[in-house]
Amino acid sequence: MYKSPRGTVDILPEEQKYWRFIEKKAVEVSRLYGFERLDTPVFEDAQLFTRSIGEGTDIVTKEMYLFRDQSGNDLALRPEGTAPVCRSYVEHGMDNRVQPVKLYYFAAIFRYERPQAGRYRQHYQFGFEAIGEIAPSLDAEVIDMAWRLYESLGLKGLSLQLNSIGCRQCRPGYIEHLRTYYKEHVDRLCPDCKNRLEKNTLRLLDCKKTTCQEIADAAPKSSEHLCDECGTHFESVKDKMKILRLPFHVNHRLVRGLDYYTKTVFEIQPPEEGSQSAIGGGGRYDNLIEEIGGKPTPAVGFASGMERIILNLKRQNVNVPEVSTPVIFIAHMGDEARGKAVQLAADLRRNDVPVLTAHSDKSLKAQLRQANNLSVRYTAIIGEDEIKNNAVTLRDMSTSDQRTVPVNKLIELLVEG
Ligand code: HAM
Repeated sequence: MYKSPRGTVDILPEEQKYWRFIEKKAVEVSRLYGFERLDTPVFEDAQLFTRSIGEGTDIVTKEMYLFRDQSGNDLALRPEGTAPVCRSYVEHGMDNRVQPVKLYYFAAIFRYERPQAGRYRQHYQFGFEAIGEIAPSLDAEVIDMAWRLYESLGLKGLSLQLNSIGCRQCRPGYIEHLRTYYKEHVDRLCPDCKNRLEKNTLRLLDCKKTTCQEIADAAPKSSEHLCDECGTHFESVKDKMKILRLPFHVNHRLVRGLDYYTKTVFEIQPPEEGSQSAIGGGGRYDNLIEEIGGKPTPAVGFASGMERIILNLKRQNVNVPEVSTPVIFIAHMGDEARGKAVQLAADLRRNDVPVLTAHSDKSLKAQLRQANNLSVRYTAIIGEDEIKNNAVTLRDMSTSDQRTVPVNKLIELLVEG
């Protein structure tokens, strides 16, 4: 028997209400902040990701789904959504539009990770990017939008972590400080951290091992080694966040797993989990567009995993609206009644009433059981008498009350709800 590939899941009909709920809220919040939807392909030139996410990152070294097509192009299934949006911005000359260009997306994302709760090899992200503006108020606006999304979904107890990791000018100096510090503690580092020490020093700060965390806690802080420009920017982002009443904590160990970030980085954590399972994260990436061949263009964005949002909606027992299901089931007895049922179903659907009918020759009792299992509000029963009177027997499934309703009145009754 075939199963879905490891780390992937089918989103079954009973799960769909969560997805539709989040999509609806995400579209609403996008409208409030002036973001427009962009859809990019599921696969891109592999180099787009290696160059932007960074050669030394886990995503690029271990997690990309790479393939060569029949023409010899090296492609990758999208392991994140920001680089494709930037590629599209450059390709379509969006620098000629009013800046910042604000774009949002729902995208399937592919990472060859070790599957566990909230971690998949194919997951979906809702993300948004504001491109073409350096002002710190835009960072705050993006963070505010992320926060507002979770608030509108009814999630509680989230924490908002903020940091600044500087820019091309000040980060190398900071990394030198960090490396010097870590070299003094190298004996106590886990094997992964020992390996990262030279190539990916910043990532030592977010190692999850207890001893490494202790070392990281006392490490030099990036926010204390910022150049003037980054320092002023960070202060201004915090000011704007205070105006917006966003309850943030500066987390000196927050560095994010992608190399393209500059200045502001942030993550939103659910109540029960450690830093391993952010519900969403983002930040500023002022060099990315230039690195992939565009003009120097500052930008800031955010993305949240849909599955992680759902995990938290379920944990917090958030009431999610049901996806609307058919209100009426048509049961019939005999061949002539079956013809009438087909006709009535068509008439109801033409009047926008969602309807289901029995298709097999089951007893009335079995048809009513079927209707009950489908959770419809009514069943319309058609038999010989009903055909004669051009009516149906309408059964209210919650009370089992039955009454005769002429067909023309039935449509009126259901259309009015
Ligand atoms: P990221 O932190 O790698 O950032 O992913 C964003 C979110 O996607 C995470 O916070 C998490 O909710 C979800 N996520 C990541 N990996 C998985 C997985 N394997 N299974 C389930 N959910 C996952 C980015 O991808 C950046 N592009 C965000 C961004 C947008 N930065 C600026 N603009």
